[in-house]
Amino acid sequence: MRFRGKTVIVTGSSSGIGEEIARRFAEEGANVTLNSRSRERLERVAANLEDDRTLIVEGDAGERESCDRIVAETVNRFGALDILINNAGAAVAGPLEDASDEDIDKVISLNVRGVLYLCRAAIPHLKKSGGSIVNISSVSGSGGDWTMPIYNASKGAVTNLTRSLALGLGKDGVRVNAVLPSLTRTELSADLMEQEELVDKFKARIALGRVAEPDDIAGPVLFLASDEAKFVTGVNLPVDGGVSASNGQPNLQRAE
Ligand SMILES: NC(=O)c1ccc[n+]([C@@H]2O[C@H](COP(=O)([O-])OP(=O)(O)OC[C@H]3O[C@@H](n4cnc5c(N)ncnc54)[C@H](OP(=O)(O)O)[C@@H]3O)[C@@H](O)[C@H]2O)c1
Repeated sequence: MRFRGKTVIVTGSSSGIGEEIARRFAEEGANVTLNSRSRERLERVAANLEDDRTLIVEGDAGERESCDRIVAETVNRFGALDILINNAGAAVAGPLEDASDEDIDKVISLNVRGVLYLCRAAIPHLKKSGGSIVNISSVSGSGGDWTMPIYNASKGAVTNLTRSLALGLGKDGVRVNAVLPSLTRTELSADLMEQEELVDKFKARIALGRVAEPDDIAGPVLFLASDEAKFVTGVNLPVDGGVSASNGQPNLQRAE
């Protein structure tokens, strides 16, 4: 019960990594604000959580109005904000020269602008509570992928924002960290997961030899948000089964 009495916002918590993070915070005693664009999907998640410690704030986490509302309604309901988890994210694959304006807007507005808006709205409250932010970046935010330039740009921004905010907010006792997952089995990766040959190539680069499940990511997120990590800030923690240990080299042994 590391989070009893603490209030947490988890954006994009109607499925995948965000749903698992929200569930785990609730299990450990937190008040949890769930957010996504779909009330119906959030109600399904909330059905398994305690009513008096759960708030649903529907809305697009890429739009300023919703971001401000997510924070305001949370503080209004629970009286404070201790932890912000910027998890909602979108991805588009393919060469930049083929991308539409809509592709660029979709990814940059949610993955970058929304994270800035949410942090901006949350910071005054986190200064009061001595709270923390955990951003869900990606291994795609520390190196390039062969086919995801817009996503790479967006997650690179999140990774570096994490460092910058940590430097700026340390004096106020606010910590800012990020986790960088590699391929994780969720709706976002569902199409990719169906491409068996491609997934096998990914797996050949992962020391632990498998893709991640949402609970592989949630554990490190809760650790970074907890008092156990009270002297940890500005860290971009790869949660990638060892992908980043290999310097991008394929695992020749496993390929044999
Ligand atoms: N899966 C991977 O392989 C992987 C790897 C590295 C990093 N990540 C990162 O992990 C995070 C979570 O992704 P996931 O894999 O768990 O994906 P997911 O299962 O598709 O979940 C995405 C969540 O974000 C919500 N969402 C999407 N657009 C939104 C918007 N505009 N406003 C508010 N909520 C929105 C979705 O709910 P609604 O559709 O109900 O709005 C859903 O709850 C993302 O930041 C992603 O970039 C994922």
